[in-house]
Amino acid sequence: MRKKIVAGNWKMNRKLQEGIELARTVNEKVSGTDVTVILCTPFIHLSEVKKILNRDGLFLGAQNCASEESGAYTGEVSAEMIKSAGASYVIVGHSERRSYYNEDDLTLNKKVKLALKNDLIPIFCCGEVLEERKAKKHLSVVKNQIEKGLFDLPDRDFNRIVIAYEPVWAIGTGVVATSGQAQEMHKIIRDLLVSRYGKEIADDTSILYGGSCKPSNARELFANPDVDGGLIGGASLNADDFMGIVHAF
Ligand code: 13P
Repeated sequence: MRKKIVAGNWKMNRKLQEGIELARTVNEKVSGTDVTVILCTPFIHLSEVKKILNRDGLFLGAQNCASEESGAYTGEVSAEMIKSAGASYVIVGHSERRSYYNEDDLTLNKKVKLALKNDLIPIFCCGEVLEERKAKKHLSVVKNQIEKGLFDLPDRDFNRIVIAYEPVWAIGTGVVATSGQAQEMHKIIRDLLVSRYGKEIADDTSILYGGSCKPSNARELFANPDVDGGLIGGASLNADDFMGIVHAF
């Protein structure tokens, strides 16, 4: 059975003390849920937030990792370091990394492999921009991102992947994908996984939706058979909103 997951992506928000407070509040509020809850904090928050999280089903994640193992890469943070700070997950290939930092498929594929090698679960992001959807290219864009980023992984590694579909036009815009648009893409992604890895692995892979997800729209999105949770940006910065989304299951 695949997991239901709600992951908060804090992005570049919250000073260290503020992040600690937010994590503390979320930690207090998480209980009695079968949803896996993940806080993806900035790097410098990781080890401090790790000390706070003590609830079953509440995990720590990073938002990125280096594409190289270690060495002279000034300013980079390796998967191994992230693991050593206590994280269990790492976001790879967020659209902000793809577009602002020119992260291409090959780079992201290297990051996924380093994450897995260091026992981190990659939350692999994919999604089209508005022009691509208007040109009816969104399905092929997402298919291509997943094939190039993930499909050379052996079955035993793919078992540990989480996918997040985040249509770029919905991120931070307040324009959420309709329930039908989300389900359509998630089903296509699942079918793609069936064709490459077989039904069992595809059925076990959690596919999250991201993009303007809020307590008010989460229930309808999560009611879809192929939407297994959310990757939450803005609403994860407020503990009540974030927990409202967790409870939308
Ligand atoms: P918003 O929820 O702010 O739209 O961001 C979504 C996102 O990018 C999560 O990774």
